[in-house]
Amino acid sequence: MSLQTEVKKVTTHTLLRMKANGEKISMITAYDYSFARIFDGAGIDVILVGDSASNVMAGHETTLPITLDQMIYHASSVVRGVNRAFVVVDLPFGSYQSNSKEALASAIRIMKETGAHGIKCEGGEEILESVKRILGAGIPVIGHLGLTPQSIYKFGTYSVRAREEAEAEKLRNDARLLEEAGCSGVVLEKIPAQLARSVSQSLQIPVIGIGAGKYCDGQVLVMHDLLGINTEFQPRFLRRYLHLHEEITDAVRQYIHDVKDNDFPNEQEQY
Ligand code: KIV
Repeated sequence: MSLQTEVKKVTTHTLLRMKANGEKISMITAYDYSFARIFDGAGIDVILVGDSASNVMAGHETTLPITLDQMIYHASSVVRGVNRAFVVVDLPFGSYQSNSKEALASAIRIMKETGAHGIKCEGGEEILESVKRILGAGIPVIGHLGLTPQSIYKFGTYSVRAREEAEAEKLRNDARLLEEAGCSGVVLEKIPAQLARSVSQSLQIPVIGIGAGKYCDGQVLVMHDLLGINTEFQPRFLRRYLHLHEEITDAVRQYIHDVKDNDFPNEQEQY
């Protein structure tokens, strides 16, 4: 008998069951092996290899520049650190908008080359054909509606979306279409809590919110925001659980001091 206890992996079925049972879903972004391993060990349900890697890993202003190859690099690193969580990967800007054939080819590359469990893409009715084609190949898809950062130049601002009834109505319709197509969940970003509540209540699939209030079936945060690695980004919806920017700065200052002082390494720290 193996000494290792079998880990029950999170699947699309687990997520559906959690919603049905009223158990909230926890989701966090990760972009590398080491953090993914910590988050998975802590018991996170879903790890998103977000195209926010473009911002937090590469320092770009928007998510638009990151490439499919770069997402594949991040995702395969994350997958190697994960034992239990469901790993979903963003299709980057430009890898799925042209046509459904290109969308499927991009999704297949992600699944084949990373070992991830599903993809996420931004948009509703406009990308429905692509979503259906990806789902038709047996690849789980998570939708993303509301403030979709790949459309930032269309929106012109990162402020709350769907405050007006016309946009709210389109969002409700898009969410329904994504569920009918067979998506495993929908991320709702930066929309009014009451709108997210009505969408969550109307769908069988889980709704994961970021800046979409407490009535969603789960929550997602970017790891750099949650851990306080970023200090500039301070939206109302963000709760920081650590202040790593300050802590890391202090630690590195101490290290510099110890090196300059010839305090590090000491007798015990050498061979
Ligand atoms: O790329 C990302 O990190 C995301 C989350 C903000 C949901 O899409």
